[in-house]
Amino acid sequence: AADKLARVKDALKSFPDFPKPGILFRDIFPLFRDPSVFNDLIDLLYDTIKESSPGVQCIVGLESRGFLFGPLLAQKLGVPFVPIRKKGKLPGDLVSVTYDLEYGSDTFEAQKGSILSGQKVVIIDDLLATGGTMKAACDLVEQLGAKVDLCLVVIELADLEGRKKIPKPLKTLITF
Ligand code: PRP
Ligand code: HPA
Repeated sequence: AADKLARVKDALKSFPDFPKPGILFRDIFPLFRDPSVFNDLIDLLYDTIKESSPGVQCIVGLESRGFLFGPLLAQKLGVPFVPIRKKGKLPGDLVSVTYDLEYGSDTFEAQKGSILSGQKVVIIDDLLATGGTMKAACDLVEQLGAKVDLCLVVIELADLEGRKKIPKPLKTLITF
């Protein structure tokens, strides 16, 4: 696992002052250019879920970069994938929550009935910054009556102390 993690870490890129001055933007997309590194990442996420959330019943992915890993992991685990999306994108009866971002604010929505009440859920995203996004996702999942068993992200930006906001178990693969 250590060499898989090293390959994933090596594939990430950093961009100073994007999208605003003072932000050091960590870009995950370069790792998708190498299928074997993408595979390493999926293995690491899969193993973390198996260890930290045995018996998971649903994978929830956060728009948009949580959609890069969520469906693949749900498929491998044999459980449903459910999206949480930015406001105005999902049809039907919804639950919603508004939250602050590192740069701006946003509203998240999920479809009523998409996660069954009482289900054990793993929420997945690419990155934890201030933690506002992941906290909002936890609140939405609980509004639907389900249980957040694990929050899982690839990258944690430790300086922003997002971890403190997350009321649930949180695992992260890489910390900057
Ligand atoms: C980024 C990132 C996380 C979130 C983390 O998404 O993918 O979802 O910000 O920030 P936080 O911990 O401070 O809340 P963004 O809102 O930029 O949307 P995108 O994935 O659709 O580009
Ligand atoms: N990289 C990618 N997404 C982000 C970041 C970052 O550094 N901060 C907040 N969302």
